[in-house]
Amino acid sequence: MKPKKKNTTVLTGCTLLLGVLSLLPLSGSGQDESVEEIVETLRIEVDRLTSRAELERGRKIYLRACAPCHGIQGDGKGPAAHGFDPAPRNFRRGAYKFRTTVSGALPLDSDIERTVREGVPGTEMPRWKDVLSETDIGAVVQYIKTFYPYFDDPDSLPLDEDIIEIPEERPFEPSPSSIAAGRKIFIDQDCVKCHGDGGKGDGPQADELIDDWDVPIRPANLSLPYYKNGKRDQDIYRVFTSALNGTPMPAFDELSEEERWQLVDYVQSLEVEQNWIYWLFKENPNQVRHPPIKPPESRE
Ligand code: HEC
Ligand code: HEC
Repeated sequence: MKPKKKNTTVLTGCTLLLGVLSLLPLSGSGQDESVEEIVETLRIEVDRLTSRAELERGRKIYLRACAPCHGIQGDGKGPAAHGFDPAPRNFRRGAYKFRTTVSGALPLDSDIERTVREGVPGTEMPRWKDVLSETDIGAVVQYIKTFYPYFDDPDSLPLDEDIIEIPEERPFEPSPSSIAAGRKIFIDQDCVKCHGDGGKGDGPQADELIDDWDVPIRPANLSLPYYKNGKRDQDIYRVFTSALNGTPMPAFDELSEEERWQLVDYVQSLEVEQNWIYWLFKENPNQVRHPPIKPPESRE
């Protein structure tokens, strides 16, 4: 999918002009300043046109690939999404579950891109990495952000200190003792209230939970071979550190680094082999309940 020809021509023209202007031999500081001003103005114009072209590209992809479920207006009420549980996200509310930012904060672009790339296993949200190029994913993410105007407000964006750094390297390997310590934390922190003693999503509060869209929501069944947000140790660490915005799943801020990894080890130990569905998802965690809707244009 190519940006509009008109934009491409203007962009190339501006870029050339920028190059030529910055090469001009300059005499006298007055002239120097005015050339710099022109270069700066042109640079701003190039940026503006580039982002307009990207949004247009994102809009086209959105209408074909996402609107059937998420709705033309981004309200999660697309015609294909009737009766889906969970419903497709309403992008107009700005609540994103899967993030590397603190509870309540907006996501980073890279967080939304990751969800689009990988999908949400066990729900109708498909994985798009086999269908859309990285440029397309970047463009469609810029487009869905336009449904929530606060993404444009610098004061609403996450600050550096709101970003959760998740260590790639673990300080220790999982062991029977780290799992036992994790189980104690799971009980002490009341995870059992929602997720149940064996983590099957059947705790005493499981039937009473409502999400921010006023829809009943069940705690995740942690014994499954796939999780919505990924099943690497780091993915699980991220969920209880960042919370899932819009859902009752809270952030656990008070835990030490060591306790977080112990909790990860306990949660991982809850996985049980069940039936053929277990093996189906074990082989391909991004299995969705129906085939993804393919946009007509394939990868570049
Ligand atoms: C077949 C239906 C379907 C299609 C098509 C679809 N989605 Fe989704 N999407 C869903 C559902 C259902 C969820 C909710 C998952 C959940 O809440 O656990 C979702 C959730 C999301 C989220 C939420 C992430 C978060 O952190 O909360 C994003 C972003 C998203 N979709 C983007 C897209 C984009 C972009 C496209 C098009 C390229 C797309 N979706 C196409 C069904 C769909
Ligand atoms: C108030 C109820 C509640 C409590 C307490 C709670 N959770 Fe959750 N948790 C949820 C809900 C609801 C979801 C599912 C959200 C969804 O499906 O979008 C969830 C999801 C998760 C997930 C994500 C699974 C996935 O599919 O990606 C993990 C991991 C998790 N919880 C672990 C924990 C741990 C560990 C604790 C305790 C430290 C805990 N939870 C405490 C309600 C709770």
